[in-house]
Amino acid sequence: MASGITRLAGKVAIVTGSAQGIGRAIALRLAEEGARVAICDIQEDGAARTAAEITAAGGVARAVVLDVTSLPSALAAVQAVERDLGAIGILVNNAGWDKLEPFIESTPETWDRVIAINYRGILNCCKAAAPKMIAHGQGKIVSIASDAGRVGSLGEAVYAGCKGAIIAFSKTLARELARNNINVNVVCPGPTQTALLQSAMEGRPKVLEAMTRGIPMRRLGKPEDLAGAVAFFVSGDADYATGQVISVSGGLTMVG
Ligand SMILES: NC(=O)c1ccc[n+]([C@@H]2O[C@H](COP(=O)([O-])OP(=O)(O)OC[C@H]3O[C@@H](n4cnc5c(N)ncnc54)[C@H](O)[C@@H]3O)[C@@H](O)[C@H]2O)c1
Repeated sequence: MASGITRLAGKVAIVTGSAQGIGRAIALRLAEEGARVAICDIQEDGAARTAAEITAAGGVARAVVLDVTSLPSALAAVQAVERDLGAIGILVNNAGWDKLEPFIESTPETWDRVIAINYRGILNCCKAAAPKMIAHGQGKIVSIASDAGRVGSLGEAVYAGCKGAIIAFSKTLARELARNNINVNVVCPGPTQTALLQSAMEGRPKVLEAMTRGIPMRRLGKPEDLAGAVAFFVSGDADYATGQVISVSGGLTMVG
């Protein structure tokens, strides 16, 4: 395996939204480090492609269709993963979606969709997976928020609200589940080269240029840039870290 680290050997991980983008990179990295990975996504074909990539590299993965906006879907996915791969030890809440527009032009229909995927989706997956982790006596939960949830972001008011909510929810869940040996942490990407960023920036090349200039490291993130921070938080190396938030965004957001 490329990283040569096998600190996740024997672990079973769910990564939501891992058909593409950041979730795909996280799934590949966790598999590289020895985890058996469930590629959970609403896109069946994309999930199957990521799972096939992992299998071709010598890892173990299963594609599982999951709509994070539905609690029954999350419960069914967790059941399928435990049946096919074993006891769940890791949940990475990564699935997300956004539509860039000023708040005053946005509609309640769009708010509902943004909230359902970005916030309720995480509640559903935690509700489905955490009781299993409690029963197994350990667990690691990492949610992908965004720098937008820490400092705000133009044109992303409702999305940023959801990402801020993920941070507050995760800190509270971290307090509630600490006694169960379950760690809950948050990783915040900045602008990262994925389909989501591409669609948000469609026809706005100047905004993208200005955004890149504002990053101290002077480049956009790559999906792989996020994978190491997630792998750390779900590993034994982070056993004593919980309720923490880290930005992986080239220095864009520095919060004390
Ligand atoms: N790309 C960025 O610039 C950026 C910046 C900050 C935060 N993020 C966050 O990173 C995470 C990954 O984003 P990305 O850029 O890789 O996006 P992406 O659009 O490339 O991938 C998102 C994945 O989530 C899946 N998904 C969407 N709705 C779903 C649902 N209801 N159920 C299950 N899966 C669903 C999609 O099918 C897709 O595979 C998201 O939470 C996003 O908010 C991204």
